[in-house]
Amino acid sequence: MRKAQRRAFSVCSAGPVPLLSATVRSTSLRNRIVRRFAYIAESASKRPLAIEMLPPSTMDANKNSNQPGGASSGITRREYVSALGGSVGSIAFGLPVLDAEPAQATPGAYVVPLTIRINGSEKRLTIDPSVTLLDLLRERLDLTGTKKGCDHGQCGACTVLVNGRRINSCLSLAVSHDGDQVTTIEGLAQGGVLRPIQAAFIEQDAFQCGYCTSGQICSAVALLSELHKGDASFVTPNLRRAGPVELTGDEIRERMSGNICRCGAYPGIVAAVKTASEATRHASRMKGRAL
Ligand code: FES
Ligand code: FES
Repeated sequence: MRKAQRRAFSVCSAGPVPLLSATVRSTSLRNRIVRRFAYIAESASKRPLAIEMLPPSTMDANKNSNQPGGASSGITRREYVSALGGSVGSIAFGLPVLDAEPAQATPGAYVVPLTIRINGSEKRLTIDPSVTLLDLLRERLDLTGTKKGCDHGQCGACTVLVNGRRINSCLSLAVSHDGDQVTTIEGLAQGGVLRPIQAAFIEQDAFQCGYCTSGQICSAVALLSELHKGDASFVTPNLRRAGPVELTGDEIRERMSGNICRCGAYPGIVAAVKTASEATRHASRMKGRAL
């Protein structure tokens, strides 16, 4: 089921009736909109959907009697546009259901097996192939530390590590990670001891509301490893140089640019990455091992 269809389904099955009843005074218009959503949802889910149709209201009857077209043309252009705008808006912003679909497979639905290692523990699952990695983590495995912000790959709140590389889990189908190792924010601390980057976020006051923080931290873990391996970025001055890349403010800002913080905690985030990098280098020197 495509994302737009899933949203339509969620809106249609979970919340349109009160929403439409509140925003659309004409019951005939409201019935037509509900029918349209039900059609989309039924085609996507391949099962009939129970929808409630309201009897025509007095307002409909009065309006129809005043319209030149009579009973069959009782909707004005203004009413149609405003109702459509409200309904489309509710889909676009995920209202009233933000987390669109349950990751749990419905009995009888098309499902596929998936074996995945999450934070060191192997999971053998049966999933709907259209479920994203983010929804699998949050909705099915209750790993809600990974956040859903935009659900469109634009904010980085959903960043997790897959085989050591950072990805936006909202853009990745869970089924494509068969056999992969996934690390979420819940899996970063070892035996109750925070990673240097986690401790640095606290020390440098690198968050306010904290909604973006798990994504920022996962991203920063991958950033430090990329620098250590010598991976170049857009602002790396010397691409011929081998070995670790120097950690400058520009490198941090460029490499963290996929993670948006609406609170504007950026100065603290840059400071935290620098602090963690120094702590990691110091720990490596002392213990003779990498992070
Ligand atoms: S929720 Fe995935 S990038 Fe915003
Ligand atoms: S701390 Fe609030 S969004 Fe970053």
